[in-house]
Amino acid sequence: MESSLPGLEAILLVGGQGTRLRPLTLGTPKPLLPTAGVPFLAHQLARARSFGVRRIVFATSYKASMFEPVFGDGAAFGLSLEYITETTPLGTGGAIRNAAEALTSGPDDPVLILNGDILSGHDIGEQVSLHRAREAAVTLHLTEVDDPTRFGCVPTDESGRVTAFLEKTPNPVTNRINAGCYVFTRSVIDSIPRGEVVSVERETFPGLIESGELVLGYATRTYWLDVGTPAAFVRGSRDLVLGRLASPALPGPTGEYLALDGARVSPEAKVQGGTAVGARCVVEAGASVVGSVLSDDCVIEAGASVIDSVVGQGARVCAGTVVRDAVIGDGAIVGPGNELQNGVRIWPGVELPERALRYSSDV
Ligand code: GTP
Repeated sequence: MESSLPGLEAILLVGGQGTRLRPLTLGTPKPLLPTAGVPFLAHQLARARSFGVRRIVFATSYKASMFEPVFGDGAAFGLSLEYITETTPLGTGGAIRNAAEALTSGPDDPVLILNGDILSGHDIGEQVSLHRAREAAVTLHLTEVDDPTRFGCVPTDESGRVTAFLEKTPNPVTNRINAGCYVFTRSVIDSIPRGEVVSVERETFPGLIESGELVLGYATRTYWLDVGTPAAFVRGSRDLVLGRLASPALPGPTGEYLALDGARVSPEAKVQGGTAVGARCVVEAGASVVGSVLSDDCVIEAGASVIDSVVGQGARVCAGTVVRDAVIGDGAIVGPGNELQNGVRIWPGVELPERALRYSSDV
């Protein structure tokens, strides 16, 4: 049974440039990219709300003005939302400090901080209860991963106290990594220098540990995904459509695919593996789309195959083309008979002639 947290406030970090997701993030910030049929953040907002969070402050920077038109005052989501924008990006710690100006919590209250690019199935209520019971300065969600060499790792002692924040190494001492969801005691946020660029990962957390403050780890093995790369982004959307992570924001039943209003999927097309089909998309007869994200208004022509890929808004994949593990930018046209694989990215608006590419490299 998940616990509820009435009155808990949250800060959502959504100001990053999302460079690893370019070209998708050239026009749209990462937290607004369509994911299983809705802007990515809708899943996080619905989940936070399901734990009793009612007020969330968005810490915006990159493409800041794009958030409010999508989420408004939050009433449609059962939330009260505020938007605080940095004039220059302040990093994760500086952004938290800046957004804290809009909090109503008192100095001893816990405040939830969420990275705006994480899908997580952990029990936020339990994390906050642990924080309160141990009177910690900060309680970090830690997730256990199979291959910790790709991440910095976060060792704890037997009481759960975090002992260090270690950089990436070929021989990590633990498989626990920072999962990007923190509970801060409000007064600790207020001790972050104001108006300065600060990283919580590189400065705030190591500094608190060094000065003997209680930084706790709350480790789980529940569903967790950082959607920061194209492959992970596609996986996240797929997992939501397939129901591997339950989301109250999913705009339809779970299943092999989810099609938004006005999408036309030919009965002779094969669409499966948790594909999201955007509004007014067309998937023609004989096309095959597996585990992919088709943004609004795109066209997959007869006999084309799209596997584990993102197709941007209004883009067209022409007949007989194979797109596997690739990103097609908004409005791009991939001519007939191409084979795109291995992380190739086609920039927005590019028109790739017939049979121009048989393999990977950026275009
Ligand atoms: P990459 O450029 O691909 O690394 O992505 P990113 O810009 O999102 O950076 P990263 O994944 O490290 O960011 C973690 C979280 O913090 C994301 O939710 C970002 O939106 C957010 N974030 C990163 N830097 C800033 C910042 O300077 N200001 C604000 N408000 N948020 C930030």
